[in-house]
Amino acid sequence: MATFRKAKKEELKQIAHFIGQINHSNLCLHCVANAEDIYKNMYEWLDNPEDFIVVAEEDGQLVGALCNTDYEIPDKEGWLWGPFIKHSNYTKIANGLWDTLHNITPGILKLNIYVRIENKEAIEYYASKGFKTTSLAHLYKIEKSRFQNFQSKHSISILEEQDFNDFKKLHELAFPGAYHTAQQITELSKEKNIIYTIKDGRYLLGYLHAEAQDAPPNGYVHFLAIDPAARRKGLGKNLLGHSLNWFFNDKNLKTVTLTVKDDNPARKLYESVGFVLEYSGNGMTWKATK
Ligand SMILES: CC(C)(COP(=O)(O)OP(=O)(O)OC[C@H]1O[C@@H](n2cnc3c(N)ncnc32)[C@H](O)[C@@H]1OP(=O)(O)O)[C@@H](O)C(=O)NCCC(=O)NCCS
Repeated sequence: MATFRKAKKEELKQIAHFIGQINHSNLCLHCVANAEDIYKNMYEWLDNPEDFIVVAEEDGQLVGALCNTDYEIPDKEGWLWGPFIKHSNYTKIANGLWDTLHNITPGILKLNIYVRIENKEAIEYYASKGFKTTSLAHLYKIEKSRFQNFQSKHSISILEEQDFNDFKKLHELAFPGAYHTAQQITELSKEKNIIYTIKDGRYLLGYLHAEAQDAPPNGYVHFLAIDPAARRKGLGKNLLGHSLNWFFNDKNLKTVTLTVKDDNPARKLYESVGFVLEYSGNGMTWKATK
């Protein structure tokens, strides 16, 4: 009979290995697939990830895991990894993990999951738990070998303090309710993150936030936005191309990825600089009933 409990700190590597075996084909898109990288990622947002991971055991073996490792304590909002299940009764194990997760973190208000569309089991399971599909999103990737140095036609600079308010305004306009506020973006590690801007004199026309991730080594474009009045003039493409120089030349990364919603015309822009579709997934969200 399966039992469910909170993870222990000393078994996190073993849990990462278990998850890696099941997530080999990136069924859960918030989570990476290599055990070592999964372990490092567990610590990316929280000092005590074991407090937000639950496991299922049967006959002394791990048979399930569910992680809420990006849990934002003030907002009570999390991004789930899983459920990762190695058992003939998927629903029973998933339900046990779900209940245990709520027991160890009472008062969760919102949970998000990004599941590869092929992962029908998880999509159906989360729908049965009241998750609503909020978007179909695509993960695009470009390899260094497909990229030629980009020569920007516009002057691009790193965000300056005096432009913070304009940057904040554009960020809130383009990405209302985004997972990072403008303030949070500026507080991220300067070594790994960069915010490029394009300006017309004092006026901010656009920005791009890029991150050089290390587990696994990969560049990620988080946000790219151009002032509505300045669109379709090539500014977005210039910011993107410039960021690829940073990723591939300055940071010496081999791949860069980004996520874009199905109906966003920005897909054309990404394809035009050489990004190719890697995976598609359903973004799903659960909200606690009041
Ligand atoms: C997406 C966005 C950054 C594009 O910036 P932009 O400066 O207008 O884009 P560019 O002028 O560099 O476009 C380059 C190419 O991308 C494609 N493209 C860009 N916007 C497009 C649109 N709205 N419809 C169709 N194709 C588009 C075109 O192929 C375009 O080349 P063309 O104008 O010669 O046809 C901008 O529309 C924006 O800020 N949108 C809101 C925020 C957003 O959705 N960001 C992306 C999140 S993943």
